[in-house]
Parts: sequence; structure tokens; C-alpha cells
Amino acid sequence: MKIGICSDHAGVEYKAAIIAHLQAKGHSMVNFGTDSTDSMDYPDVAHPLASAVENAEVELGIALCGTGNGMAITLNKHQGIRAGLAWSVEVGKLVKEHNNANVLVLPARFIPLETALEIVDAFMADSFLGGRHQRRIDKIPVCQ
Ligand code: RB5
Repeated sequence: MKIGICSDHAGVEYKAAIIAHLQAKGHSMVNFGTDSTDSMDYPDVAHPLASAVENAEVELGIALCGTGNGMAITLNKHQGIRAGLAWSVEVGKLVKEHNNANVLVLPARFIPLETALEIVDAFMADSFLGGRHQRRIDKIPVCQ
């Protein structure tokens, strides 16, 4: 798959490890930055990643920041994005099975790297279950 990935300074080391991990499995990675541990603002990389997912330039996205919340809040401002925050393997599985997330968000300062890689693998391996979960997703857009 072609996968987009971004992080702020808090997630930059985990991002590099995830890129190597997924490339070793044959995936093509598009890195939206940052590639420095210098302090930066997560929306500056979250919005380009979200646009790439919405425009089908990448098939899925992965985003990291300290808590994951800044990335998730920013990404979910985009109509075509369902960004799900996962802090365990089980949540990583459910965010695909139940929420059909097209961006996986990880809290780099609150989970070990090994767990982050396992969550990525669970997210990649699982499929959306559809059915009642599709009905719920269909109700997400705000009606005016
Ligand atoms: C950076 O200090 C931190 O605020 C950021 O990584 C993230 O946790 C924001 O939600």
C-alpha cells in the first residue's frame, strides 16, 4: 500500500521507526514530516497529510504527536478524514473494524515503541466490518 505519515517533534523518532517497519513489509511510504526534534506545530503537517488522503494520493495515513489529540483534532476537521486515536493493539484493531479510520493516530509520548508498531500492524491487518458500523459512520457528517 501507499501510506502517508506525519508527526510533530514528539513523534519524530517513532515515525522513523514506523517508516522502516512498513517499508520492510513492502509498503510505499510518503513522509509529510517533521524530520527534526525541534519544536513545531502539528497542524503544519497534519493538514497536508489529510489532503493527501482525501485526494487519494495515499491509501491510508498514520499521524503521531505527544498525546495524539492535536493530530486527531486537526485531521478530523477534514470532511474526508476519519482519524482514530489508538493506544493499545485492541483499540488499533477496533478503529479499523468499527470506525473504518483512514488515518491511525498514535500518542508517541504515552506508549512504548513496540506497542506503537504492534498497533500499526493490527490497524493494517484488520478490515472494516460494515453493517451497523457503516450506518453509524453515515450519521457522522453534520447536517445544517
Ligand atoms: C507537544 O508538546 C505536544 O503538545 C504535542 O505533541 C501534542 O501532544 C498535542 O496534542
